[in-house]
Amino acid sequence: MTIKIKRGHILELSISDMAFGGKGVAKIDGFTVFVDMGVPEDVVTARITKKKKNYAEARVVDLLSASPFRQPAPCPYSGICGGCKWQFLDYQKQLEYKRSHVQESLEHIGGMQGVNVLPTLGSLKQFAYRNKMEFSCSDKRWLLPEEMSRETVEPGFGIGLHVPGTFYKVLDIDACLLQPERGNEILDDVRAYIRSSPAPVYGLRSHKGYWRFLMLRHSVALDQWMVNIITAIEDQKTVAPLARLLVDKYPEITAVVNNITAKKSGVAIGEYEIHLAGKSTITERIGEFEFDISANSFFQTNTRGAKTLYDVAKRFAGLTGAENVVDLYCGTGTIAIYLSDMAKSVVGLEMVTDAVQDAKKNCEKNGVGNVRFITGDIRFTMDQIETVPEVMIIDPPRAGMHKDVVKKVLELAPAKIVYVSCNPATMARDLALIKDHYTVGDVQPVDMFPHTYHIESVAALIRK
Ligand SMILES: C[S@@+](CC[C@H](N)C(=O)[O-])C[C@H]1O[C@@H](n2cnc3c(N)ncnc32)[C@H](O)[C@@H]1O
Repeated sequence: MTIKIKRGHILELSISDMAFGGKGVAKIDGFTVFVDMGVPEDVVTARITKKKKNYAEARVVDLLSASPFRQPAPCPYSGICGGCKWQFLDYQKQLEYKRSHVQESLEHIGGMQGVNVLPTLGSLKQFAYRNKMEFSCSDKRWLLPEEMSRETVEPGFGIGLHVPGTFYKVLDIDACLLQPERGNEILDDVRAYIRSSPAPVYGLRSHKGYWRFLMLRHSVALDQWMVNIITAIEDQKTVAPLARLLVDKYPEITAVVNNITAKKSGVAIGEYEIHLAGKSTITERIGEFEFDISANSFFQTNTRGAKTLYDVAKRFAGLTGAENVVDLYCGTGTIAIYLSDMAKSVVGLEMVTDAVQDAKKNCEKNGVGNVRFITGDIRFTMDQIETVPEVMIIDPPRAGMHKDVVKKVLELAPAKIVYVSCNPATMARDLALIKDHYTVGDVQPVDMFPHTYHIESVAALIRK
């Protein structure tokens, strides 16, 4: 390489590609520079922020010539907030890059060439598509560039989203465009209440204080809202008036709960839950089925996208009514129930007890009698599967399957596997572990997360 690259250098770069993780790629004499906020066909000046032996990282300083794939980002926090980083990228391009990233992961991580990765199915809504948002409280908020120059700025309390790389400060946002507008109004009311509350806000460094997170959940089909307030200790006198205020103001808020956690980890899940107003679940509908969802149960965050995803899974499963199905990592039983009308039986396996309770109630609610559930860590519960399934659905968390689980899947040897994944890298790794025994058919990317680089995929696998 003729040019010496050092941290702090500002270089002129032409962005030629998009890397998985959402950064633009530029090459200097074959040396790779990942450029944050860079879009293919941009020419930029960028500051090198990290230099390693095989690659460097940089951040755009000036846009010298804008890519035709750039579009104005509607959110004022775009470029600062870590929530969605691709608002400035044309949506069709987002879908193309997501498809390529799935293909590249299968090739590079899984060593699988030529898999038929179909064009990405786009999200019906590109904004206001999220049915769940988590906002963190902090005693220190992130100051916006225009606030830094002002003399009278209150640096204290903030409720909002994190800026990448800063765990203890939050961006005190007025609105997040990924959630429906009503969610922003609720966020505003909760902010005002916390601001005037005598109870202190939790410090993400000091680990002292009361108010920790606000989680909002929305049901698209029934327009119901759940408000989940996460606090460090139990203090009903402080939180109950907030619940009353919210349900009095918004008839659509049908559930208010208080999760309590003393754990230092930044996860908005309580060690226990107190019910404050309305019900403790909200009801959502996917296709003809209704699902009651409680605060701590997994539910796909893009409801309309979930219908697209489950329809693909159902098509790939190709059920005739004669098959026994196993649904690994079943959450609230949504896929199990969605497939139940075309299966002989379905067994769902899940470790979160609340989710399984929701799943059982959801079966009753929908008059589904051929689905049962096994609660516990799949590593230790797969031996309880009594009938060898013809079809297996596998929808693991981002980390993918534990290798013991892969082993048990191969022992059970279902004729068909439908692998659903929110992480192309772990999907590629897991499929590589079973590719000697299964032929990988079509892979369908489904975009559940517009303006982020995240992508959901469904893979059809047939036993050899
Ligand atoms: C990606 S979600 C899938 C949920 C469901 N299929 C759906 O579409 O709503 C993964 C689920 O796996 C569960 N899970 C994660 N690790 C597990 C394990 N070791 N054993 C059992 N369940 C697990 C999580 O609680 C979560 O509900």
